[in-house]
Amino acid sequence: MTEHQKILILDFGGQYTQLIARRVRENHVFSVVVPWTLSAGEIAALHPQGIILSGGPASVHDPDAPRCDPAIYRLGFPVLGICYGMQLTALLLGGRVERALQREYGHVDVQMKGPSALLTGMKDVSSCWMSHTWQVSACPEGFHPIASTGNCPVAAMADENRNIFGVQFHPEVTHTEEGKTLLHNFLYDICHCRGDWSMEAYAETAIRQIRETVGEKGTVLLALSGGVDSSVTAALIYRAIGSRLTCVFVDHGLLRKDESEQVCHVFSHLFPVHFIRSDASARFFADLKGVTDPEEKRHIIGRDFIQVFKEEAEKLGKLDYFAQGTIYPDVIESGQGTSTAVIKSHHNVGGLPRDLGFTELIEPLRMLFKDEVRALGETLGLSRDLVWRQPFPGPGLAIRVIGEVTPEKVRIVRESDAIFREEIARFHLDRAVSQYFTVLTGIQSVGVMGDERTYDYTIALRAVTTDDFMTADWARLPYDLVSVVSTRIVNEVSHVNRVVLDITTKPPASVEWE
Ligand code: XMP
Repeated sequence: MTEHQKILILDFGGQYTQLIARRVRENHVFSVVVPWTLSAGEIAALHPQGIILSGGPASVHDPDAPRCDPAIYRLGFPVLGICYGMQLTALLLGGRVERALQREYGHVDVQMKGPSALLTGMKDVSSCWMSHTWQVSACPEGFHPIASTGNCPVAAMADENRNIFGVQFHPEVTHTEEGKTLLHNFLYDICHCRGDWSMEAYAETAIRQIRETVGEKGTVLLALSGGVDSSVTAALIYRAIGSRLTCVFVDHGLLRKDESEQVCHVFSHLFPVHFIRSDASARFFADLKGVTDPEEKRHIIGRDFIQVFKEEAEKLGKLDYFAQGTIYPDVIESGQGTSTAVIKSHHNVGGLPRDLGFTELIEPLRMLFKDEVRALGETLGLSRDLVWRQPFPGPGLAIRVIGEVTPEKVRIVRESDAIFREEIARFHLDRAVSQYFTVLTGIQSVGVMGDERTYDYTIALRAVTTDDFMTADWARLPYDLVSVVSTRIVNEVSHVNRVVLDITTKPPASVEWE
């Protein structure tokens, strides 16, 4: 979105780089993460309002440590170096970086000496988050220290004439109590940003760009899963080109209760795209018959999904563009946006566009973080219910039925899951708990119901809290809630006579059971 002012974040591989980008955007300023290898010329051509150098795991003294083009400091854009970014700035401009006498990690009280435009409005002593072994021991010429700790004489430095700053602590993490103020100062008082980044503005620009790309008559094909990303993509493209957007929704029969109907309703009434629902559940169940291995289930579902989608697309004849709900973390993580190349394995339609002969993709969410996608969805008028939906795996309920998948077992897990979701919402915990669902375990056990002996299934409740799903803790659900859910499930869902609670963290367990 070229018209928004932007801050460039040079990525040196720090664990908080994406967080810096999000914090900038939370301040209504667009941010882009770029590899540290960009030359000063390439950076100037992007016309940033300012540059932030991220942290990183290397030591600036390593022979192969990442070093940005020193000419960037002469471009005239304000620069803020964070942690590694500060140390590199010091080194490249003639200062000294040495091993700290004592490694600082966690909360540290930092004396803000100032005065500096960067520290305006901050307390004299502020609690900051630090994580470093190396530190600046002598500022480069033109700089002076503006903050310190008992261990670290230069916890922040400034050259107010050239507008170049460095901080050893991490203003982007919430543990730094006044980090928000510091970033706001940098963006508004030093970079003179207007604050023109909002979801309304983004929607307008994106809609205009889609119209320009697709033209007066062009048509677009989208694989709609009903998840947040593909739904917001569909809503946005609908706003741009109306029913020249065709959405194909492959219903594998493994969605949660009422989800399929909700997707159909939204995209035939609220956003009346050209909508095709392919009810392929019989095919999926047939192909899953007798299969118990989780990886094999995933493989079959992925393969069938692509096959069904292709068949539907071929019936439609040639459309001009293929749309996808790729979001910014996917772009960054796949190495297209940065130097770090980690490729995610969860991909449902990865190779599909090429297989179908599309060379051009429309990916209007490519620059957005998940929270922004949700905000955009709300801006476009999608229901909160849909927009704030918890994550749901591509293979759906099939990986929540342990062992062989049958329609009857899917019914059991779907009904029990609906009860669990209803009660979590009634206890107002749907935002606090990151993901929650039921699992049909492979266990059958003895029980009594009325005067009858039963030999029925065990349902497990799984609920986790997490920021990134890489690690997770089990959610401490109130016993009152767990009790109601258990009673309701055994009373309302036939063939369940026992409910257990999964109290395992990730690692060692994963979030899903398969
Ligand atoms: P795990 O089970 O790996 O789950 O701890 C982490 C997150 O990823 C989701 N998940 C999947 N999503 N296809 C997907 O699209 C999959 O095969 C898949 N497996 C797990 C899971 O729901 C959780 O949010």
